[in-house]
Amino acid sequence: MSDPRLAGRSLRRIAFDEAQIAARVRELGDEITLAYPAGELLVLGLLKGSFIFLSDLVRQISRPLQVDFVVASSYGDGTESSGTVNLVYDPETRIEGKHILLVEDIVDSGRTLNRLMDLLTQRRPASLDVCALLHKHIATDLRYPTTFVGFPAPHEFLVGYGLDHAENFRHLPYIASLQ
Ligand code: PRP
Repeated sequence: MSDPRLAGRSLRRIAFDEAQIAARVRELGDEITLAYPAGELLVLGLLKGSFIFLSDLVRQISRPLQVDFVVASSYGDGTESSGTVNLVYDPETRIEGKHILLVEDIVDSGRTLNRLMDLLTQRRPASLDVCALLHKHIATDLRYPTTFVGFPAPHEFLVGYGLDHAENFRHLPYIASLQ
């Protein structure tokens, strides 16, 4: 497969194409709209991976909401999780009393989620839920359910639509595995 955005790398396969992603994001937007009939909703995007998903998702949610971001990093330049989760940016927006929807691109080992959810719980939100575009369903010590899931993730290293390999390929409009 040749795509000028790949800088000479080849794709093994496209796991989810643009149309599949757009259709599922519309469905998630509808689910989320229905799930929050009242109250203040703060959609909290976990950077960097969620930036494209979050941008598309919030435009499919038909109710008032606010957006903020949190930055955590668990991977270095490799394809394996390093095991430590560092918080680099903490949201400035008030969390107490609001419905918080944490948006992730992918749940892998679940370490990032456990750490962030522990932290956010302490700030006394009205509710705290997770929306992940992809979920590997391999986490054995995940202490929080993922309320909204886009797709079960195949057990491949995925790039595109926000997901990177050594900071590359985030801008692919589809989700693919590399050769
Ligand atoms: C990746 C991914 C998820 C997290 C999932 O983020 O975007 O946030 O790891 O892994 P886990 O379930 O094993 O914790 P990363 O730390 O690579 O940062 P990024 O979002 O900037 O790519």
